[in-house]
Amino acid sequence: MEKIKILGNHSFQLKGKIKISGSKNAVLPAITASLLTKEKIRLKNIPLVKDVFTILTLMKELGGDYNLKKNSLSVQVKKIRSYEASYELVRAMRASILVLGPLLARYGKAVVALPGGCAIGSRPIDLHIHGLEKLGASISLEHGYIKAEAKKLHGTEITFEKKSVGATENLIMAACLAQGETVLKNCSLEPEVPNLCELLVKMGAKIEGVGREIIRIQGVKELGGATHQIIPDRIEAGTFLLAGALTHGEIVLTHTLPNHLDTIIEKLRFSGAKIEKLNNHSLKVTGTPELRPQDITTSPYPGFPTDMQAQFIVLMTQAYGTSIITETIFDRRFSHINELLRLGANIDVYGDKAIVKGKTLLSGAETIATDLRASASLVLAGLIANGKTIINDAEHLDRGYEKIEEKLKALGAHIERINE
Ligand code: EPZ
Repeated sequence: MEKIKILGNHSFQLKGKIKISGSKNAVLPAITASLLTKEKIRLKNIPLVKDVFTILTLMKELGGDYNLKKNSLSVQVKKIRSYEASYELVRAMRASILVLGPLLARYGKAVVALPGGCAIGSRPIDLHIHGLEKLGASISLEHGYIKAEAKKLHGTEITFEKKSVGATENLIMAACLAQGETVLKNCSLEPEVPNLCELLVKMGAKIEGVGREIIRIQGVKELGGATHQIIPDRIEAGTFLLAGALTHGEIVLTHTLPNHLDTIIEKLRFSGAKIEKLNNHSLKVTGTPELRPQDITTSPYPGFPTDMQAQFIVLMTQAYGTSIITETIFDRRFSHINELLRLGANIDVYGDKAIVKGKTLLSGAETIATDLRASASLVLAGLIANGKTIINDAEHLDRGYEKIEEKLKALGAHIERINE
């Protein structure tokens, strides 16, 4: 079990410059898209995070080969060896479900463990299944596995009853090799979706409406190889912008895309932080000790991202007043709050709302991480809590943040991995 120790204090400030890594949530579907062709896919700006190694393990099990050098990856599935994504891998990472669409489209068969729930909610996959059935797949659920078969997928019209990033990605990939035209409506607009579409188009897919809610795909017989750049991770960038605001420090972020961060930047500015766009790939955040409370409601992109909710709650513990944080995407995404209470935060939860009262000076304590973004919120809280904060089960952090301790140390944080 990984442990992180942070020595923080109430007047701690982060200062310096950091490089934002590639997006975890963009690279995962880009890797599973390699199942759609026998040619090689080359991806640049890969984040070296645990989830990337998990999906590459799955690709190997399916018969793929890959070569990872620094932050560049080539992956190729010349011949399939297995159609199965095991429970062990799916349990480790729900995004393994993103092999379902490509396996069905190229091989007509897929056996994927049901992801089950996780610390942030029930995580159903009904939208994935209904969409693939409409494309002609026959799907049964047996002994905790999704067994899917399809002689040939046929284009059709599908309207997602709610926005789902994963279902949008799975159905786009499946439709690329289906016979005829597929129209997908109510697609997710998260930047990771157009980044996937741009890769698929380079591979030869015929996709119209990239980045919009209605996407039209003309199926093709086969797809080829491609080289593609993964977009920067907007949640890592948002986390560091928030860290600058929280510690009223000064941080320059490079290799990021400010236009993916509009609502995060707006909320941080309303809270009192100063955020300057230095150029198309850099931002500078300057914090203020006079943080103002803000109400937020998480919603699909371009709304305020659910993946920033836990971090924003920490910021609001330092604002002078009461903030109402409403989580609308996942049904159980407040597990970080019990841990923040141990650090002295003043937060009450009523259903999907967290009422945060500030300013409360936090004090270091031993805590436990429950999921990726919850662990990020504990790191942020530890920076400004007086004394020592220990985060147990810190491996959650490694799933989505590349070298976060190194990046924070470079900004002045007293943070280290311990084996106590
Ligand atoms: C993606 O998860 C991200 N993961 C999540 O990031 C992110 O929080 C989420 O999108 C929302 O933005 C990756 O991209 C790998 P959804 P995904 O399908 O695709 C419900 C992180 O911390 N739903 O958009 O699994 C679902 O329960 C992770 O980086 C159904 O009801 O999320 C949720 O309430 C956490 N049926 C809502 O839709 C389905 O078939 C949005 O989920 C699918 C989803």
